[in-house]
Amino acid sequence: EKAGYASFMLKEIAEQPKAVADTLLGRIDGSGTLSLDEVRIPAAVLREVDKVVVVACGTAFHAGLIAKYAIEHWTRIPCEVELASEFRYRDPILDQRTLVVAISQSGETMDTLMALRHAREQGARVLAICNTNGSTIPRESDAVLYTHAGPEVAVASTKAFLTQLVACYLVALYLGQVRGTKYGDEIRDVVRDLSGISGAVERVLTTMDPVRELARSLAHKNTVLFLGRHVGHPVALEGALKLKELAYMHAEGFAAGELKHGPIALIEDDLPVVVVVPSPRGRSVLHDKIVSNIQEIRARGARTIVIAEEGDEAVVPYADHLVRVPATPTLLQPLVATVPLQVFACELATARGNEVDQPRNLAKSVTVE
Ligand code: F6R
Repeated sequence: EKAGYASFMLKEIAEQPKAVADTLLGRIDGSGTLSLDEVRIPAAVLREVDKVVVVACGTAFHAGLIAKYAIEHWTRIPCEVELASEFRYRDPILDQRTLVVAISQSGETMDTLMALRHAREQGARVLAICNTNGSTIPRESDAVLYTHAGPEVAVASTKAFLTQLVACYLVALYLGQVRGTKYGDEIRDVVRDLSGISGAVERVLTTMDPVRELARSLAHKNTVLFLGRHVGHPVALEGALKLKELAYMHAEGFAAGELKHGPIALIEDDLPVVVVVPSPRGRSVLHDKIVSNIQEIRARGARTIVIAEEGDEAVVPYADHLVRVPATPTLLQPLVATVPLQVFACELATARGNEVDQPRNLAKSVTVE
């Protein structure tokens, strides 16, 4: 069943270009138009939405954090993202004009299910983003957008995450398309860019040997930190989560702008710090800020592992290790930047002798509270 791979995780990492393409299939066309027929919430209702609330757990929550940037940018609708386990015990302010997006690979996560029930009781519409046909979360939602990642067997989520991201972008772009925003042209361009994204993920996968080698050389470390800004921040959180659950190492993700508010005190000689660098095109302020963050931590002894776009020369002098990813629009970068972090965690865990498909203490589907 592992089709020659040493683990399901490696197989599922390798399947990502296809998974991403399958999630896009039939939903975008060459003219830059989206059709999400299965989203059976009438356009008139979507036009009235005045708040989006994303609820999810774990890796799916990280997809939600990235969705916030996309939704707010392309639709100008305020978007909150909350851990389902916190949301359900709060007294959240929702009504018929709130669109709740529940993201879940399994469709059975108890906290996410309870959060969506809580939302529906208050009149909100719920759109599920889910990978498992006929599971409980989509059955209890008003509409569902299935991610077509195929079955994910390894406990640590990889291809499901990438397809959750794709689904989140589709929802954001679709809301923008239905409502009409000043970003109409940009939306059409991004839809076209999405059609090339599977190839970009494929390209990342062909360049992972140095990442594997680096991971093996760090197997004796106790801590790895991850930094990012903008959509790179949730990518950093996801990189840290993968390392915790697979390698059982202390790993933390930070917003790079928070460094000087505390975390920079953690930097010591030869501490590995992975930095996700946004594209130098587009929002160049973001890029320049993170280049100075890399300089700051390196001056304090950090061993910098820099994930940067092809052609970004500004990072070269400060990168102890440089991982290149294809150029993408800023908001789409997580689709390529996450892949090296998955490979890194998987290889490091293997080097430490861990069973990557079945990490200790974890279950694939968390149906208890
Ligand atoms: C991490 C991981 C978990 C799940 C979380 C939500 O690799 O797999 O954090 O993402 O338990 O699960 P679903 O998406 O099934 O609701």
